[in-house]
Amino acid sequence: MQSLPRLILATRNAHKTAEIRAMIGDRFEVLDATAFPDFPEIEETGTTFLENARLKAEGISRCIDGWVLSDDSGLEVDALSGAPGVWSSSYGGEEGNHAKNNARLLHEMADQQDRRARFRCTMVLARGGVEQAHFSGIVEGKLVESLHGTGGFGYDPLFIPEGYDQTFAELGDSIKNSLSHRSRALDQVVAYLL
Ligand code: IMP
Repeated sequence: MQSLPRLILATRNAHKTAEIRAMIGDRFEVLDATAFPDFPEIEETGTTFLENARLKAEGISRCIDGWVLSDDSGLEVDALSGAPGVWSSSYGGEEGNHAKNNARLLHEMADQQDRRARFRCTMVLARGGVEQAHFSGIVEGKLVESLHGTGGFGYDPLFIPEGYDQTFAELGDSIKNSLSHRSRALDQVVAYLL
């Protein structure tokens, strides 16, 4: 039997890996940086999603043969001039602390009538330390005024995608994965690779 092509994700974020694995099905063997303890920690010093995605994909692909895929993503809120944007993961003051991030977002949005927001995901495919292609996905929506639901991760309990009346955290994985920013970027990645 032929083995599946391998895709290495330049992330240690278990939620991103789980979503990408679920969406990619059995078309690729998906591994992430947790399987390679020697991979360096890549500092996200860019000021755009693309710059950060490029740093991660190129940095990790210098350490291993084959396709490396990175995901840099975040939430853009119109009433906050696009914040938290590339700083989504540390908006509450502590990297990766979703509870603090959500608390700060609720605080900043307390008196805002304009609740429009979007998730954006940029993915970079790299080999041998060089970007081969990049892709982007967006899902538009609006923010609610308190946390709803327990699924997903990050800002999911605060975000209702356009066309629905429940948050990503309430809608569950299969609906989220059918329309999310990540799935829209990943569809293009898969089309490119296949
Ligand atoms: P990154 O690891 O630098 O790409 O930061 C991603 C951050 O954006 C996460 O820590 C979350 O705060 C937010 N984020 C990205 N994608 C999602 C999502 O699908 N749901 C909820 N929050 C997300």
